[in-house]
Formats: sequence, C-alpha cells, structure tokens
Amino acid sequence: MYNIAVIPGDGIGKEVMEATITVLKSLGINFNFTYGEAGDECLKNNGEALPKETIELAKNSDACLFGAAGETAADVIVRLRQELNLFANLRPVKSYPNTNALFEDVDFMIVRENTEGMYIAKEEEFTEEGAIARRIITKKAEKRIIDYAFQYAKSNNKTKVTGVHKANVLKITDGLFREIFYEVAKDYEGEIEAEDFYVDATAMYLITRPESFEVIVTTNLFGDILSDEGAGLVGGLGMIPSGNIGGNGALFEPVHGSAPDIAGQGIANPFAMMLSACMMLNYLEEFEAEERLNNAILKVLNKAETLTPDLGGNSSTMEVCEAVISEL
Ligand code: NAI
Ligand code: MG
Repeated sequence: MYNIAVIPGDGIGKEVMEATITVLKSLGINFNFTYGEAGDECLKNNGEALPKETIELAKNSDACLFGAAGETAADVIVRLRQELNLFANLRPVKSYPNTNALFEDVDFMIVRENTEGMYIAKEEEFTEEGAIARRIITKKAEKRIIDYAFQYAKSNNKTKVTGVHKANVLKITDGLFREIFYEVAKDYEGEIEAEDFYVDATAMYLITRPESFEVIVTTNLFGDILSDEGAGLVGGLGMIPSGNIGGNGALFEPVHGSAPDIAGQGIANPFAMMLSACMMLNYLEEFEAEERLNNAILKVLNKAETLTPDLGGNSSTMEVCEAVISEL
C-alpha cells in the first residue's frame, strides 16, 4: 500500500485533483489517499497557508500530489520543496497530438537544480547606485543534480545528457558546474553521451532543433527559464506536469497555477495533473500502471472527441476524466 498525501489547494487545483484521484482509484493499485490543506483558502480559514499538519503529512507519505495554490504559492510550494529537501525539479517537455504544440516530435526532460544558484535570492542594497544578488554554486548540490540527470538518462534509455551553463562569462561558478558535469560524465563513458552548451545558444537550439535534446541538466534560474520555453514549444500549461524529487520524498504537480479566470466552471484541462500522476507512478516503480494511464491519455487526445476548451474542445474536466477511465 502506498500512502499518498493529496494537497488540492485552490481554484482549478481542486478540480484537476478530483479528476486525477478518480482516475488513480480505477487503476487497481492499493493507494491510501490522505488530504491536506494549503493555499489561499487555508490561509483564510486557518490563519496560515501551509499548516504544520500538512507539512507532516507530506513528509510521512510515500509521495505527494499537489494541485495549485493561488497568491500564497510561494509560501506553499516553495516551502514544501525546502521542507522535503526536493533538490531535483523534473519537467518533461513532450508534444502530444491535438494540442497546440509547435513541434510534433519533441520529447526531452529538463532536470533543474532546485535548492541553490540565483534563487537563494540573497539580495541586498549595494551602494546608493544599485543592488547586488549572490549566486551560490556548491560542488555537493551540483554533483547531486548532475548525477541524478545521468542516472535518469540511464534508467530511461536515453543516449545523451546536455549540460547547460554560461561558463564563458561566469567562469568561476559555471566553470565549476561544467567541470563537475564532465567529471560525472566519465562514469557513464561509452553509455551516455555528454555535451554542453551555453544557455543563450540552448535557448535558440530549443527552437531550431528541439528534437535533438534528450536530457538537459542545469542550474536553478536557467532551468526555470528554459522549462517555460519548453512549455511554449509543446502547447502551454494544461499539458505540462512536473516532479520534485529529493532525499525525503517526492512531490508531483502540474506547472500551472489556480487559474482564477476559469476556476469553478469545471472546464480546466486535467492532463497536466494526470501526467504528474504518471510521473508519480514511475517514481513508485508502478511501470505497468504508468504505461496504461499514459496510453489512455494518448488515446483520448488522439480521438479528440473529449477535450477541454483550452485544447479546442467543449468537454468538462470530469467528462475528460470519464473518457480516460473508459480507455484504461
Ligand atoms: P495560471 O497557470 O493559473 O493560469 C495562466 C493561464 O493559463 C490562465 O488563462 C488559465 O486559465 C490557463 N490555464 C492554466 N492551467 C490551465 C488548465 N489546466 N486548463 C486550462 N487552462 C489553464 O497562472 P496565473 O494566472 O499567472 O496565476 C494564477 C494564480 O495561480 C496566481 O495566484 C499565482 O500565484 C498562482 N500560481 C500558482 C502556482 C502553483 O501553485 N504552483 C504556479 C503558478 C501560479
Ligand atoms: Mg517558472
């Protein structure tokens, strides 16, 4: 039995979570779902956006599913990543049929460092003339994420890992990143090809030849920017899942937010949340169920009969949920 912490959050977070839990319940796996509160509504009701009980629930689970928070997102999801030490942010960029994808054959994984780099956000007023921000790159954290990327490549039959940095300008910090990248790559010689690019060139290659990437590993800020570029390549937020993985657990969530413009109408696209659940099944090594759910989602997309309005259809979230279940 798996203990799954379920944190629906606000707005469409609740709607896509309901659809996804309904689908997961029909897989025949013994899940024990326990719900936790977090987000704007929780702040209003309980005086805090992320109660201790919810953090404990997430910590004591085998995996955590998160929907979306509203204005409190930074206090909720960023904090949860820290509390659970979720050092790897995984964002698959994959094109699906009948979405608004710009390319048909994109399928790569961005492995983003989640704990340091620019996003330690240590900023201060420097002089009256300006301000300063510190960017931290440690051997330990970068080795950990690069190791993770190569391991991911190996266990998912990928042939290449691309390290992305700006070592020509940031010679010391990104120089260190590049050095560690090739140190780790040595352990995989003959198995996994290693290449590295500057981040600006990568931004262009993602548009001119996205199909050439398999696994990208990079630091926090670059990973954040490149993964949104990736979302743009494959048709937007309703289709992009993510996983946060670390020492003390794992948390899976759609990349989108609470979407107040469509919340309450029951028309949110549940695929980003369902694909996040597929990533959870992979993490739990329930590979057969992962494949079944992936295939069912693909069939619904291929038929294009039951799609939400963002994909050009007129179906509701729960109608998509039923369509997926009938394909399982
Ligand atoms: P958003 O992702 O909520 O929405 C952006 C646009 O995409 C909206 O037009 C929305 O209708 C559409 N959209 C997003 N997901 C969709 C789906 N599954 N199906 C159909 N359409 C979808 O981002 P926005 O508007 O910038 O932020 C809204 C709230 O969400 C804010 O309070 C923000 O703080 C929060 N937020 C939370 C995140 C999280 O919890 N991880 C991430 C991003 C934003
Ligand atoms: Mg971002």
